[in-house]
Amino acid sequence: MNTNPDGTTSEGTVTAVAPKEGGGFPNPGLPPHVHRQADVSRSAEKRAERLVAGMFLLSVVGTAIFIAAYFLVTPTGTNIFAAEGSPKALWWSNLVAGLGLAIAVFFIGAAAVHWAKTLMPDEEMVEERHDIRSSDEVREVAAGIITDGLEESGIARRPLIVTAMVASLAALPIAVLAPLSTLGPLPGNKLHHTFWGQNPGQRLARDHDGTPIKLSDVAMNSIFHVMPEGLTDETPHFMEERAKAATVIVRIDPKLAKNDESLANGVEGVLAFSKICTHVGCPVALYEQQTHHMLCPCHQSTFDVTDGAKVIFGPAHRPLPQLPIDVDDEGYLVASGDFPEPIGPSFWNLHKDK
Ligand code: FES
Repeated sequence: MNTNPDGTTSEGTVTAVAPKEGGGFPNPGLPPHVHRQADVSRSAEKRAERLVAGMFLLSVVGTAIFIAAYFLVTPTGTNIFAAEGSPKALWWSNLVAGLGLAIAVFFIGAAAVHWAKTLMPDEEMVEERHDIRSSDEVREVAAGIITDGLEESGIARRPLIVTAMVASLAALPIAVLAPLSTLGPLPGNKLHHTFWGQNPGQRLARDHDGTPIKLSDVAMNSIFHVMPEGLTDETPHFMEERAKAATVIVRIDPKLAKNDESLANGVEGVLAFSKICTHVGCPVALYEQQTHHMLCPCHQSTFDVTDGAKVIFGPAHRPLPQLPIDVDDEGYLVASGDFPEPIGPSFWNLHKDK
């Protein structure tokens, strides 16, 4: 009787292998091989094959559900289960789209696992350790083993499974493409302009209560969060316009100003700057009265108000854009134009030197 290094014998039984010189314990060997149903029964094999193919096809169904849900069960538009724009619509949209994607991904995984467990070759093999790089002969043999393995796996003989698998894998990316098809038009130059520029001469109004601000209301070293007076709920794209127009005004002693151009764009030391941080867009809302610095709470970028909101610390790359302001006949602060450059992040190539 021949004994393999792992303790199995050519007859399939297991024997203990004596330890090599130097100690250790006997190699217990491998337990006797148990054949799977699909290995011994042609009908079981066919059943497993159909099950695997069925699971791949269920994945296709899941993908179809996701795509259908994306267009028919939307949170704000068409929704066949709930009223448009209602919280229920959002709930149904998440539920159906999520279920569809979960089914698509789950059944690809389940089919692959079941295929491997029931139909792929099921043999215990022993491989001795050797140098990491094998000799050319061994590499040739390995390549041959891979080729044989592919043949033995029966991929070529199971066109049903392969076709179903290709269909499921090909269908899944469509679930990603569907949302891309509704991304909408490119922004064009929308990011370069704000609501301030649409109606020059608009009054600066307090954020939230919307009351206009007089020059005399702005005490020395005070800060106001302002919006254009004409920006209301009725304004098209209200939220987007509001996000871009957010501005702060502060009043400094003109004698402290280090930047004449910035001072000239204000009124008697009242200066208006975009509230959107030029780093990644957080609201710059903290003002230090003693140092005249504005701080972004996100990553601590610090802007010097006396010097045109120049960056003196932190990761922001450029000053906060300044809104040119003036005073109207009734003493209210008004914007005399738009920000001279785009507000917020994504324009880090501007004024890198400042
Ligand atoms: S967003 Fe303001 S410092 Fe990062």
